[in-house]
Amino acid sequence: MNLPTRPLVLVLAIITLVSCKNKDPKPEVSETVKTDYYTEPYRPQFHFSPEEKWMNDPNGMVYHKGIYHLFYQYYPEDIVWGPMHWGHATSKDLVHWEHKPIALFPDKHGLIFSGSAVVDFANTSGFGTEDNPPLVAIFTYHLMEGEQAGRKDFQTQGIAYSIDNGDTWTKYEGNPVIENDGIKDFRDPKVFWDEVNHTWVMALVAGDHLQLWNSDDLKKWTKLSEFGKDKGAHGGVWECPDLFPLKVEGSDEEKWVLLISINPGAPNGGSGTQYFIGDFDGEKFTTDQTDIKWLDWGTDNYAGVTYSNAPSDEKIFIGWMSNWAYARDTPTEKWRSAMTVPRKLTLQKTGDDFSLFNYPVRNLESIVDRKDKKDITVAGSTKEVIPFEGLNQAEVRFQTSAKNFQLKLNNSLNEEVLLTMFGEEKQFFLDRTNSGNVEFQDDFASVQIMPVEDLPEGEYEVRVLIDNSSIEVFINKGQYVMTSQLFPNENYTDLTIENLGDSEINLKGFAINRVKRIW
Ligand code: FRU
Repeated sequence: MNLPTRPLVLVLAIITLVSCKNKDPKPEVSETVKTDYYTEPYRPQFHFSPEEKWMNDPNGMVYHKGIYHLFYQYYPEDIVWGPMHWGHATSKDLVHWEHKPIALFPDKHGLIFSGSAVVDFANTSGFGTEDNPPLVAIFTYHLMEGEQAGRKDFQTQGIAYSIDNGDTWTKYEGNPVIENDGIKDFRDPKVFWDEVNHTWVMALVAGDHLQLWNSDDLKKWTKLSEFGKDKGAHGGVWECPDLFPLKVEGSDEEKWVLLISINPGAPNGGSGTQYFIGDFDGEKFTTDQTDIKWLDWGTDNYAGVTYSNAPSDEKIFIGWMSNWAYARDTPTEKWRSAMTVPRKLTLQKTGDDFSLFNYPVRNLESIVDRKDKKDITVAGSTKEVIPFEGLNQAEVRFQTSAKNFQLKLNNSLNEEVLLTMFGEEKQFFLDRTNSGNVEFQDDFASVQIMPVEDLPEGEYEVRVLIDNSSIEVFINKGQYVMTSQLFPNENYTDLTIENLGDSEINLKGFAINRVKRIW
């Protein structure tokens, strides 16, 4: 993240620090009448967004005793980035969310930047008991005063714990647990339990590379190794790492997946998430990968990481549905930004090459009103228009083997978003240049391009989720994914399917389904 408004941020930091001291940490209970709740223009209806004010990265994603915790970078005083806290929400099904009081407030060591949380089952930290294992949050402290003074050691790592399943948090008195010896960008710790070596491992980023550290008790940390100075994309700062093992689908082979968010330097501009497939031997992460791989080719999926301790070892990913290029300028008033839908990550192998798929979690089906499916045939060089009033809160889904077609979503103002499959050129386009309000920032009105080099020869699924101010496109069950924000001035009400080739195409099991709101 670039912080162009640093002096203002410093003033705000001081005000917040002073005001936090006297503050009851519980935010005011919203007295909004339910029918008006979450109905503002552009308000996502089935994605997580905070009730009000600024949000960025998902943090501390951990599952414990039937509860999925979602913490997030939060500034409770404004709808632009400011002194960071950890906001908090919980869910039993990853679909419906309950807002909780702010979990972590800035303190004398600094603002609370991104990080992770674990269940310390063996009570290695001593913060709880084995019968009641503590949740331990591991995060970055960002000391504004240090940064303003021109120092480079202003980011350190701290921990906090909860023995009531996340309701209240206590900071460790020995913070910071990792000091900084002069690395300007040194942040976003993601911690996991290494089953083989019986130790905690932390993935941490340091400007242009990853560092791995380990610890027996989450308090004393030792540096193990570095990775990545000469690997992957380096168009910007490395942020928000995640490292975890994953079975290759349909085999017993296991590989390690490293997620690295990078800003700027994403393929369609600004912020994006790259990944590496390799091995971890308890000390080092290594990979033979030479190409650069991206988790999502759209402009609006950043800083995403996976749940710790999720049931059945599933790797469930949530990303921040925005981009630092324009995150502060998007046209919402009460709150700013939302998370992607939770997605399950799977690893697929074709030949010697691996790819990481990401696809909505199964539970999302529970809010999709399934309609009768039908088969649609569109003759060569013709189009079919399907009116659907609720297209702004819907799922479009079908199977096809077509390689040259366009889906257009438009409204009565002729605002449109275009999804175009140019299978022969092996490219997919998402064009939001005329999608509605695009003027708020110069970079927003973009045509986003995704290479689709290994699209199946035969049938594959196209699934599109639209939710007031976002679109998520999943091709072939998450092999190719684009996530993008949209701000139409009126709801989209028509879907046009255009056959760009000469021979007829078939869309099998086609349906536009209404998606229920979760609030
Ligand atoms: C990523 C990021 C993190 C940092 C946080 C600050 O979006 O820049 O690296 O911890 O946001 O809010």
